[in-house]
Amino acid sequence: MSGTLRALGWRALMLIASTVAILAAGTVRMTSVASAERTEPPPPSAYAGDAACAQCHAQQASTYGVTPHAKDSAVADKHHILGSFSDEHNVLRTANPNLIIAMTREPNGFFQSGINISDPKHPTGEAERFDIVIGSGRHGQTYLYWDGDQLYELPVSYSTWKHEWAMSPGYPPDKVHFDRPVVPRCLECHSSYFQWLNPPANRFAKDSLVLGIGCERCHGPGALHVERERSAAPPPRGSEQEAIVNPASLTQERQMSLCSLCHAGAVAPIGAPMRFVAGDNIRNYLEILPPSPDAPVDVHGNQVGALEQSKCFGSGKLTCSTCHDVHRVQENADSLSNHCLTCHKMQTCGTYKKLGAYIQTRCVECHMPVQDSAKITFSEGTNTLRAELRSHRIAIYSDVSERVERRLQRK
Ligand code: HEC
Ligand code: HEC
Ligand code: HEC
Ligand code: HEC
Ligand code: HEC
Ligand code: HEC
Ligand code: HEC
Repeated sequence: MSGTLRALGWRALMLIASTVAILAAGTVRMTSVASAERTEPPPPSAYAGDAACAQCHAQQASTYGVTPHAKDSAVADKHHILGSFSDEHNVLRTANPNLIIAMTREPNGFFQSGINISDPKHPTGEAERFDIVIGSGRHGQTYLYWDGDQLYELPVSYSTWKHEWAMSPGYPPDKVHFDRPVVPRCLECHSSYFQWLNPPANRFAKDSLVLGIGCERCHGPGALHVERERSAAPPPRGSEQEAIVNPASLTQERQMSLCSLCHAGAVAPIGAPMRFVAGDNIRNYLEILPPSPDAPVDVHGNQVGALEQSKCFGSGKLTCSTCHDVHRVQENADSLSNHCLTCHKMQTCGTYKKLGAYIQTRCVECHMPVQDSAKITFSEGTNTLRAELRSHRIAIYSDVSERVERRLQRK
């Protein structure tokens, strides 16, 4: 196993090396010299932690704590693991009739065991403990375990749509693998902080890991801000001396950069993780290609690419914050339609003549329809289950609106 791991570590390093070569050759345009020079991640001492922010920003902190971002990763305990350990519900059968995976509660934690039952008297297999939960559980959860200071993924995830355990995304349906290393990019999108001890690529300083997505992922390291605000002569409001990033005062491109760190889909990282700081140009850290107007964009995790394909984006004013206040639990699709009306009049929609005021709260239903994900899938035996996600390409989907119109006429 360590052989495959070492190989992976090297592959990751080679990717970095080849990317550096591309940069040197000048085929990737650099637009911000300052951030391109951030060769090291900010040290732990640059961060203050959410508890500090909450002392002075009680309003944001009180509503933020229950959002999926804040709850996105956690220590694996009975409060955070959504799957059931009770007798009838704690076994996942694989496509191999002799192979099952059992989820059990032991005195020293919760475990997943891959069990070969071909000889029921002497079942064999590997067992590993749930150490970390990834996912607040809107769609599902995946679990990780430590082997020393190396982090691995567990083979069984939880599917919220089915209310059941399910094979982890991308795992073969008839085998039990405990050997999938967790790469730093996974934690970069799903936690607040960690120190990477590469090689091998899945080695981390265990104590440095801060779970949940905290304030400073979007506001930059805040220790200096806290120190200055607590001082006898706090800096003038809105000045650079405040030493904190307010995304609202960034350009559209830099606001998109911030959300792109985690919402631009599966793109290759450039160099070591955790160097990106709010306000930086994301293209110095990730190989994000400019959106092509026709390429199909998968709805999984790439809200950025999809939104940038929309004609609305060309207005130069649209950002993720036009519709989302990330400090609060999101509004539902109907109330989110209100935000369309900051730029559009309901009457300009081609269906207004037919459907009238009915459409007022339903812009999203026709222009940002829910679609199947090609990327978020779970296998159940030989079936593939697909997540349904909201498309962020705002456009005219004739088939969708015809369906909605037909449904209305039948009523
Ligand atoms: C000792 C009190 C204090 C602490 C602790 C504190 N702040 Fe602030 N913060 C302020 C004050 C005062 C302002 C300026 C007034 C305002 O905008 O509310 C401010 C402003 C801000 C702004 C807006 C800046 C701007 O330019 O518009 C952001 C964003 C912010 N803080 C985030 C944070 C984060 C994140 C943390 C935790 C790392 C934090 N603050 C910790 C007192 C504090
Ligand atoms: C590029 C950033 C990125 C990487 C890398 C990434 N994820 Fe995610 N993940 C996301 C985002 C963003 C979402 C939310 C997607 C949505 O709702 O459209 C998500 C959703 C999830 C969910 C569902 C969460 C829920 O509450 O329903 C799970 C589970 C998950 N990811 C696990 C993982 C694991 C495990 C890894 C690494 C082995 C990983 N992800 C790698 C960004 C990422
Ligand atoms: C997922 C990203 C994200 C996270 C996490 C986040 N914020 Fe923000 N924050 C933003 C954005 C974006 C804005 C600008 C909103 C806008 O455009 O109006 C903002 C604005 C602010 C402001 C300025 C508010 C104002 O009215 O000017 C404060 C203060 C703030 N955030 C505090 C916090 C605190 C405290 C936390 C943690 C409890 C936090 N934020 C977590 C993205 C984030
Ligand atoms: C550090 C990575 C990271 C950053 C930066 C980030 N997100 Fe997320 N976001 C996630 C992950 C992971 C999830 C899935 C959370 C879950 O359900 O477990 C998510 C979920 C969401 C959701 C759906 C959950 C909800 O709140 O209803 C929205 C909306 C969202 N993000 C908007 C934004 C916006 C807007 C920004 C930029 C201001 C942003 N995010 C920045 C990682 C990130
Ligand atoms: C920040 C302003 C802004 C917001 C918010 C906005 N749009 Fe747009 N939208 C535009 C602009 C600008 C255009 C391009 C107009 C043109 O080309 O004539 C556009 C174009 C469109 C089009 C035509 C698309 C096409 O492919 O022909 C539709 C449909 C549309 N918007 C629907 C919506 C809906 C639905 C929402 C809310 C979910 C929304 N818009 C939010 C600014 C905005
Ligand atoms: C024009 C309005 C609008 C804009 C702009 C917008 N969103 Fe959304 N977003 C929505 C709507 C509507 C939903 C669906 C809410 C629901 O179904 O309850 C949604 C849902 C989401 C979800 C949850 C998706 C899922 O199905 O799990 C994520 C993640 C998200 N948005 C991220 C982003 C990010 C990142 C940006 C910027 C790139 C962004 N959004 C910009 C309207 C918008
Ligand atoms: C029942 C589905 C449906 C709903 C609900 C709906 N639309 Fe549309 N919209 C369409 C279709 C279909 C078209 C193209 C029709 C045409 O051009 O004749 C369209 C066209 C548009 C256009 C482009 C107009 C142009 O000529 O460029 C805009 C802008 C728009 N809609 C905005 C909205 C807004 C804002 C809402 C919510 C108030 C909304 N739509 C609700 C189906 C819908």
